[in-house]
Amino acid sequence: METNLVLEPATHKKTNLRFLWKVFRNPLEALTELAHEQGDMAHIKLRKRDLFLLSHPEFIEQVLVKQQGNFIKGPSLQRARIILGEGLLTSEGEEHLAQRRTLQPAFHRQRMEEYLPLMNENTLVHISKWTDGARVDMSDEMMRLTLNIALWSFFGSAPKDAAEQVSKSMQTLIKLFPLAQLPLPESVRSLFPSFSEAKASLSAVTEALLKNPQSEHAQRALIHILKENHSAQFTDEQIHAHVLTFLLAGHETTALLLAWCWDMLAHHPEVQMKLQVEVDALLGDRFPTPDDIQKLSYTRMIVKETLRIRPPAWAMGRQAIHDCEIGGQHIPAGSTVLMSQWVTHHDSRFYEAPLLFRPERWSGLEEHSLPRYAFFPFGGGNRICIGEHFAMTEAITVLAMIARRWTISPTQSALATPKPSVTLRPYKSVKLIVTRRAV
Ligand code: HEM
Repeated sequence: METNLVLEPATHKKTNLRFLWKVFRNPLEALTELAHEQGDMAHIKLRKRDLFLLSHPEFIEQVLVKQQGNFIKGPSLQRARIILGEGLLTSEGEEHLAQRRTLQPAFHRQRMEEYLPLMNENTLVHISKWTDGARVDMSDEMMRLTLNIALWSFFGSAPKDAAEQVSKSMQTLIKLFPLAQLPLPESVRSLFPSFSEAKASLSAVTEALLKNPQSEHAQRALIHILKENHSAQFTDEQIHAHVLTFLLAGHETTALLLAWCWDMLAHHPEVQMKLQVEVDALLGDRFPTPDDIQKLSYTRMIVKETLRIRPPAWAMGRQAIHDCEIGGQHIPAGSTVLMSQWVTHHDSRFYEAPLLFRPERWSGLEEHSLPRYAFFPFGGGNRICIGEHFAMTEAITVLAMIARRWTISPTQSALATPKPSVTLRPYKSVKLIVTRRAV
């Protein structure tokens, strides 16, 4: 396959200023253009720092897997510690490995059997509040649903008002995330009361979750693992960091994935109809079982195609801690390396007609000829998303439960515009019409 390698990319001061301006205005376009201009190994010099954008699957595999020891998380996630503390997402090295080993059992494939009924029951309760013909804000709806699922699955309880408090604080923190990125002392940051308030509110929810009596299921849930290892492995601070990480990482990305799925389905009624045919035939009015999740193959293709075309994690950064070489290019220690799901998932060398939403592309040859890291919505290597199976199971079952009971249609002719923030969010909202199915 043609790779369009650029081994000695040119770096121009003019390009750099133009690039920064473009990133400020539209990061998705800026990264796409940079990759088009400079190829698979784009290089920008920002002050004294080197920044590389790696867009070829082989290079991405080098960073995430083959040379993962040469890299740590990028500066932006390092600074996210101000919000998340030192949890699984932000820790490094031996500390990260030990945390991951301890927490992994809560995410084994077999555990999905326990989570699935919680996902289904929460979905049914949620969608039974919809009224026929109503306009709903699907991004908001999916955010509330996945947050409740995360609360029950990981913490075995949903304390009164917890969901409301978490959503509100999340919105504030996401808005103020650029502030968290600046190297400011805590005293300056506390001048922004909403930032401190959001942090305090999340701390209160965390406290409540730790104290609240948990359901029977929680005897094996994440919260139980955390409590069991309190003192021996985790300090109070680390427990708080983990609860916060799983609260936030455990619902926001999946909610966005589902909102993007519904936006795509509303605008592609022929795909939605095929989804309904699959769900009706396999499930009827039954709730999906783990076995059904494997059999809902068209539903899975829709989820994968949405992860390709609207990846909730749209770019990932790493910082080189040693000098190294990738694709013949010297990467000096201290450089920032970016890999963008948005850029690589839209590359026409790997995907025919990449701008088209076409779930069928995941059914046949096209998928088999795909290089391993041409599709990496959950990252890869030792930092691969711990919640991948959970998120896939959740997305498939929520789609199936809703598709059986409702038809979703658009309120406007155009798809929602993606806005890259910490995650890929809709620019405004995803307003859609829900019509009860006569089944
Ligand atoms: C569609 C849904 C999701 C997407 C697209 C997604 C994406 C990602 C990506 C790309 C990474 C790697 C980041 C990096 O290497 O820099 C990651 C890591 C992580 N994700 Fe997810 N995620 C999703 C759902 C979830 C869920 C449901 C959970 C919690 C149960 C979760 C928890 C985490 C955690 C804790 C990490 C850090 C893992 C580590 O470093 O060991 N994610 N996620």
